[in-house]
Amino acid sequence: MRVTTESATMTTPTMTDPAVEATPSQPPEIRPPGAMVPPRPIARARDASAPRNEPEARPANPAVELSDVSIFYGAFRAVRDVSFSVPAHAITALIGPSGSGKSTLLRAINRMNDLTPGSRLDGEVRYHGTNLYRADVDPVEVRRRIGMVFQKPNPFPKSIYDNVAFGPRLNGYRDNMDELVERSLRQAALWDEVKDKLKQSGLALSGGQQQRLCIARTIAVEPEIILMDEPASALDPRSTLQIEELMAELKENYTIVIVTHNMQQAARASDRTVFLNMGDDRAGYVVEVDDTVKIFTNPREQLTEDYISGRFG
Ligand SMILES: Nc1ncnc2c1ncn2[C@@H]1O[C@H](COP(=O)(O)OP(=O)(O)OP(=O)(O)O)[C@@H](O)[C@H]1O
Ligand SMILES: [Mg+2]
Repeated sequence: MRVTTESATMTTPTMTDPAVEATPSQPPEIRPPGAMVPPRPIARARDASAPRNEPEARPANPAVELSDVSIFYGAFRAVRDVSFSVPAHAITALIGPSGSGKSTLLRAINRMNDLTPGSRLDGEVRYHGTNLYRADVDPVEVRRRIGMVFQKPNPFPKSIYDNVAFGPRLNGYRDNMDELVERSLRQAALWDEVKDKLKQSGLALSGGQQQRLCIARTIAVEPEIILMDEPASALDPRSTLQIEELMAELKENYTIVIVTHNMQQAARASDRTVFLNMGDDRAGYVVEVDDTVKIFTNPREQLTEDYISGRFG
């Protein structure tokens, strides 16, 4: 495949909003040229020093960019005209009501929707500038570089070791497998708990351990991006926190996109937030994309504020 990786030369984008930083003491009516006047009432007191209506501050160094993406299942349009960027080495959260297309969009990033008969994508999903839906791009290679962790932990009915070694073996990995398995389990914060029972079944682990095993399995093929669809929703609070701590560690080496229904989790764990809603036609669309701090403290859209404060959805 011709996709080029620039990750070796990439720097972590700053997660602060340059427009906010540059104008900390300006009154709100002084806006960047061309900025719009707010069309709606403001529900509660906001930080008056922060400009509200500047266009979305785009990450400097996106790993993935979606442009005008619509996704169809047969004749049904599940999401329409979605555009957002995924900054490298950061955690991007997709939030929004059930049915707004979060999982559909997540699966579009590694071409998993291809496996659903009748699904179709319009628009572009670019990975370091290359459209992943170009005819000459190999979807298997896409899924190696962009791995996925699912809502319900789904270890294979194999040993812990073989779960982690499965992908590398499939890819013809030739180096020291023991080292790779250990490194992956360490990165997934599971090594200490399983190092003495690597031959035991992955299914014999607790739910939280199984989910970390699935993360280790994903890491083992050395992806650049990890997609996680509600990875902690089936877990208890302690395991949930462990997964969040793990994500914070992983973002040093990986780019993460997570779907979550848990607003505290999105606010705590992510750097960037994409808020989706559903139109009258049931198609999901982007309401607002911004740095997580901004979305949760000073959103531009009333709808965002209503959603994050639990007034709908
Ligand atoms: N395989 C499929 N075939 C047909 N329609 C589908 C398929 N998968 C999803 N949809 C539809 O696409 C829309 C978006 O679904 P999706 O699962 O992406 O939403 P979601 O935001 O992840 O919801 P939830 O929060 O409930 O997981 C829904 O209307 C859903 O019914
Ligand atoms: Mg979903």
